Amino acid sequence: MKKTWDDVWREGESLNIFGRRLRREQAKAIKKFLPKNVKNVLDVGCGLGRTMDVFMECGLDVVGIDVSPTSIKICKSKGLNVFLMDGSKTDFENRSFDLVFSDGLLEHFEDFEPFVKEWCRIADRYVMLTQPNHFSVLGRILKSLNRHTVKEYSYRIIDFERVFKKNNFKLLKRGSYNFNEQWVLLFERI
Ligand SMILES: C[S@@+](CC[C@H](N)C(=O)[O-])C[C@H]1O[C@@H](n2cnc3c(N)ncnc32)[C@H](O)[C@@H]1O
Repeated sequence: MKKTWDDVWREGESLNIFGRRLRREQAKAIKKFLPKNVKNVLDVGCGLGRTMDVFMECGLDVVGIDVSPTSIKICKSKGLNVFLMDGSKTDFENRSFDLVFSDGLLEHFEDFEPFVKEWCRIADRYVMLTQPNHFSVLGRILKSLNRHTVKEYSYRIIDFERVFKKNNFKLLKRGSYNFNEQWVLLFERI
């Protein structure tokens, strides 16, 4: 049976040498793509707060939300500003955050459109995604090994672009890291 994220966080995520490399590369990619005029960020699916740490290192105000009670408990114990909340229907007002960020969440849903719609509503200007590229050599291998054991669908950049466009956001910048196994995508309000 497939695991849930709460199962993953309860077991505890210990990073091996590859995991540590991936996190380092991800932090570099996020910092490179972060627009200069961003002051506050919402991290949707904040997990253990590792991506929140990256934004905090940049001096930004960061709020995290997640549906996993274990993730929220762990983040709170680290003093992070987090809430137990579903990223597809949040309590935030329109255009509350300069940037809405999400790492490895959309690929777990057969229909990710409700998330994108919500993020485009609450983002003032930008949405940034880090997403697995299942079409790269390493991505294919990792998908077949089923790394996280949480179910994943394979999306192309064009699949994200189509849904963001419906919500008046366009792809501003795209890049990849970890041997092209991960994408970083920055969308901007049109
Ligand atoms: C790849 S993990 C993110 C890891 C995180 N960025 C970190 O640095 O530790 C994806 C996260 O999305 C969360 N998630 C799944 N469905 C969600 C939903 N509907 N709303 C908010 N978060 C959700 C999972 O619980 C999981 O923590």
